[in-house]
Amino acid sequence: MNPHALRVAALTVGEWTPEQTAAYDWLAGEAASVEAVALDDLSPSDLAAYDVAWWHRDRPLDWEAFDPTAAAPALTGYLEDGGGLLLTLHGLSAVEPLGIDSVPPDAVGHESTPAPSGYLVKRVHADHPVFEGLDDAFHTRGADTDTAFARYESVVPARGDILAAGRVGDDSLVGHKPLVEWRVGTGRVLGAGTGLSFSNVRDYACAATRERFVLNCLGSLAGPRRRAFTDRPASGEGFRAVREKLATDHHRPGYHLAAPAGWLNDPNGLIEHEGTYHVFYQYNPAGPYHGAIHWGHATSEDLLSWDDQPVALAPDPEGPDRDGCWSGCAVHDDDGTPTILYTGGRHRRQLPCLATATDDDLSGWEKDPRNPIIDAAPSGLDVLETDDWEAEFRDHCVWKQDGRWYQIIGSGLHGTGGCALLYEGEALDDWRFVGVLHRATAPDAGAVWECPELLDLGDAQLLHVSNYDKVRYFLGDSDLDAPGFDVHESGLLDHGDFYAPQSLATSDGRHLMWGWLPEARALDAQWEAGWSGLLSVPRELTTEGGAFVQRPARELAALRDRHAETGDLALTAGSHRALDLAGNRYELAVELDREPGTTLELGLFESPAGSERTVLRWTEDALVVDRSRASHDDRTSTEEQRAPVAGDSLSVRVFVDRSTVEVFANEATCLTSRVYPTRVDADGVTLTADGRVEGTLDAWELRGTFPAGQTQ
Ligand code: FRU
Repeated sequence: MNPHALRVAALTVGEWTPEQTAAYDWLAGEAASVEAVALDDLSPSDLAAYDVAWWHRDRPLDWEAFDPTAAAPALTGYLEDGGGLLLTLHGLSAVEPLGIDSVPPDAVGHESTPAPSGYLVKRVHADHPVFEGLDDAFHTRGADTDTAFARYESVVPARGDILAAGRVGDDSLVGHKPLVEWRVGTGRVLGAGTGLSFSNVRDYACAATRERFVLNCLGSLAGPRRRAFTDRPASGEGFRAVREKLATDHHRPGYHLAAPAGWLNDPNGLIEHEGTYHVFYQYNPAGPYHGAIHWGHATSEDLLSWDDQPVALAPDPEGPDRDGCWSGCAVHDDDGTPTILYTGGRHRRQLPCLATATDDDLSGWEKDPRNPIIDAAPSGLDVLETDDWEAEFRDHCVWKQDGRWYQIIGSGLHGTGGCALLYEGEALDDWRFVGVLHRATAPDAGAVWECPELLDLGDAQLLHVSNYDKVRYFLGDSDLDAPGFDVHESGLLDHGDFYAPQSLATSDGRHLMWGWLPEARALDAQWEAGWSGLLSVPRELTTEGGAFVQRPARELAALRDRHAETGDLALTAGSHRALDLAGNRYELAVELDREPGTTLELGLFESPAGSERTVLRWTEDALVVDRSRASHDDRTSTEEQRAPVAGDSLSVRVFVDRSTVEVFANEATCLTSRVYPTRVDADGVTLTADGRVEGTLDAWELRGTFPAGQTQ
């Protein structure tokens, strides 16, 4: 609605402060009318005559002196009937007593910043009318201006959409969440907690931006331009709308699972329940960065197409998981009820917590009131203490064996490094520490082992751990009584961008593993993209003849669309061959023999003139991903990645999906890479050799499995 036509209710409790007077007086010169309305004795009809209500509050509220119980239902009634409410500065901290959100902002006070400050727009909300005419980062307050503020920092609202992060000078404060929107009935609430001082103005450029922003807020709250969009949806249609916002991004995957928007890290709680596969994942709804970790949720019938589901676990401001619901697993308990064991974080403590499914869709979860169910890391061990944590003690792999429950938890020991701690129990809420199942020995084993997982592959057991850098595996036999792990073979599950994997036991007896493919680009590039992280394609893990095997899950064959290349391949020194592929969504399968000393290059993501190009090179003893010219965007990694392969015969499967390359060599060695060509037409694929190479080549374009995100 045109702000100049607005009839505004200026909400007050008690006398106006000079700041409120400055704000409401300014608005009186812009809007059609501004009238004071006392919140203390608000009755339901008091707001009916106004297009929008604004509560600008620069002093903390004394809830003892002001009882919101009368105001709350009157305001709620007004909102439910389509009203609009703007809450600025301390007004934002009123969302809880006013019944708008159960989680109030956790950071409230006064501040002055050395550089101008303001807001950093979240990508999925860039077209929100509050940002009309403003840049993606804008300053509303000059340097050194003392102003009240209220914002979310370590917690997020339970329901509201976070529209922007904080900005000071050129620095992005992504963990600050000062701008939030709520839908209440058919009405809307906007909370803008920082950078809005009207009485203390010296920087006139910032003042003009601030005025524009506040008028945008008021205008968008009133009248028909209000949008239904939310990036915290509860339905398939809502998720499609979120994915649609990112659909023109040519780096978004077409057949890999990424969050609808925002941040994803580890896969969690993989479970098949009543014929449906469930994947949960570490998720931040506040934006594409690690923080305020929730459990996102997606389901599939075929392991290829995923349906977004509402968030399964959210941190509870009063609970042991206040600062995040970190990684864990899901099992069927003794009664067959799906149960999650995850790590709750609060201040400097991270401890195991339980949640039980309340429905068969696994959408409702009830946290155990006794959480945390283990109340400290084992005392007899020298468990590593760091600045962040009293004890590094997290991530769970739970299984039942011979009638007993077992779990391993990731940890680290002072002076030694990473370790996996073994527990046993009669029930999922009753655990006894048994001992260290396995601990670091090699110097590169890492200070802490995260996300340990133990799998029984039949001939041998596989223990893998994520050591802050790579995923190390140990093939061997575990002893659960005198805890220990006898290692026959050890190595890396992947030599590239692959971390914190977890596996699903399928009803046909297979172990399928997904890993987190983190971004290989700067944080500001991730913020601009609006999303971060995706899950790998599923891998089937087995042993054959005593050797460890990982190959792409057989289900992936159903993605094959156009069979673009098939037949024999023969290259000689100087041969250069372009493959008939386009669109950066394809699978290659090659079986090769080479003349000793020959190097073969597979060019990927090649722009027409070759200025952008990623190379997968088969050298004498390795497969190498050369990203030195992968992207014109200098915020992306150019680091070379290398996986050892021996001999002159090679069998390779390569999966490319927009900004990912996953290479499976000889069904054992994996190399995953993230690549970001800037050009949409950087989709050429070529083969070049400097000697004789013979074999077979198959290539398929793959179909996308997401309803949006595949428009190019
Ligand atoms: C691994 C990890 C886990 C932790 C989670 C937090 O990537 O650090 O150890 O539980 O991510 O998001």
